[in-house]
Amino acid sequence: MHNHDDSRISLLLADENATLALAARLAARLKPGLVIHLHGDLGAGKTCLVRGVLNALGYNGRIKSPTYTLLEPYRVAGLDLRHFDLYRMQDDNDWELAGFRDEFDGNNILFIEWPEKAHVPPADIVIDLEILPQGRCATIKGITSTGRACLKQI
Ligand SMILES: Nc1ncnc2c1ncn2[C@@H]1O[C@H](COP(=O)(O)OP(=O)(O)O)[C@@H](O)[C@H]1O
Ligand SMILES: [Mg+2]
Repeated sequence: MHNHDDSRISLLLADENATLALAARLAARLKPGLVIHLHGDLGAGKTCLVRGVLNALGYNGRIKSPTYTLLEPYRVAGLDLRHFDLYRMQDDNDWELAGFRDEFDGNNILFIEWPEKAHVPPADIVIDLEILPQGRCATIKGITSTGRACLKQI
């Protein structure tokens, strides 16, 4: 692991288990209201990371990718999680029309795949997953003081 500065961490995730281990560390640090943007190509591991977070929090139900529904809601370990995948969002207005703005309420924890597809709430934490010949490179940035506080202990 290389610490570039307080707010930016890059790490090599050799395999899926490494992604799930990162997810578990992140899960332990989540606070109500956090907004986490997930960047990376198709297959980079964005959904895998969210699944890992939910499993680490003890979620037992089925976890499906919100590829078609755009949003999957969860309640686990006293936290309200909202998992968005906006890849199929055609129009920026769809975010408003779908009422997604209301999900940004200071309590829900938002994980947003493809945040660039809409005017989504600003990120506390940005996670970038890059596909390497073997494994993935994760770059994690704390944008707000809340986000940076969360990453300090990761
Ligand atoms: N660190 C890793 N190294 C190699 N493969 C990984 C790693 N993390 C996850 N994967 C695999 O990559 C794929 C990621 O799929 P998914 O999470 O659906 O991607 P995305 O949501 O970014 O499109 C899964 O098949 C998963 O097993
Ligand atoms: Mg996905």
